[in-house]
Amino acid sequence: MTPERRQPVECEFMPDDYFSRLDPTCLFENDQPLEIDLGCGDGSFLIAMAKQFPDRNFLGVERLLGRVKKVCRKAHNEGLSNCKVLRLESKYVIEWLFPENSIDRLHLLCPDPWPKARHHKNRLVQQGFLQALYKALKPGGEFCFKTDHPEYFEWVAEQMQKFKKFEQLDWPEDAFFYPKTDFQIQWEAEGKVVERARFRKPE
Ligand SMILES: C[S@@+](CC[C@H](N)C(=O)[O-])C[C@H]1O[C@@H](n2cnc3c(N)ncnc32)[C@H](O)[C@@H]1O
Repeated sequence: MTPERRQPVECEFMPDDYFSRLDPTCLFENDQPLEIDLGCGDGSFLIAMAKQFPDRNFLGVERLLGRVKKVCRKAHNEGLSNCKVLRLESKYVIEWLFPENSIDRLHLLCPDPWPKARHHKNRLVQQGFLQALYKALKPGGEFCFKTDHPEYFEWVAEQMQKFKKFEQLDWPEDAFFYPKTDFQIQWEAEGKVVERARFRKPE
């Protein structure tokens, strides 16, 4: 017997088919630029961005159902038509769901750093992920990364150097609207430094 499919909550995006590439215009039924927040957590960044930029679309990706429902509730209560959440695994979304040249900006903010050497293989930023991201970003598309974990920051710099195809952009403090995430606020309150790096797929 096929198990019954859970019905999506308001502002939740559930693909009809998880095994085919998405038509990104089905997501929001318009062709505004698309930004994705991988591992959006409680969604404070996603919601603030969607409120600030009504002429862009925002998709949060999160694997925990409780968090997905919470962010969807916030987006619905705010009346945001440019914000949705997808409950799925981040790497799968970039590698298998989004077609080539479909994403304008990807945010990866305070992801799990997997500090133990034997767990480094679980880090999201690896050559395979970068290859998939490079394909999925539009020419000129950006990848914004933040972490409180200095060794993961170094790791990403090394992965980027090895991959070669992205160019690094300056990212001075307050260069543009970019709210702090819940985790950044929490880490900074504990005295930790959150580092950031910004990359671009050349035109
Ligand atoms: C450390 S929290 C950071 C949340 C948010 N970006 C912030 O900065 O406040 C990492 C989030 O990513 C989610 N996450 C971790 N691994 C994931 C994966 N493979 N796919 C989707 N979400 C994931 C976790 O459930 C969690 O909500």
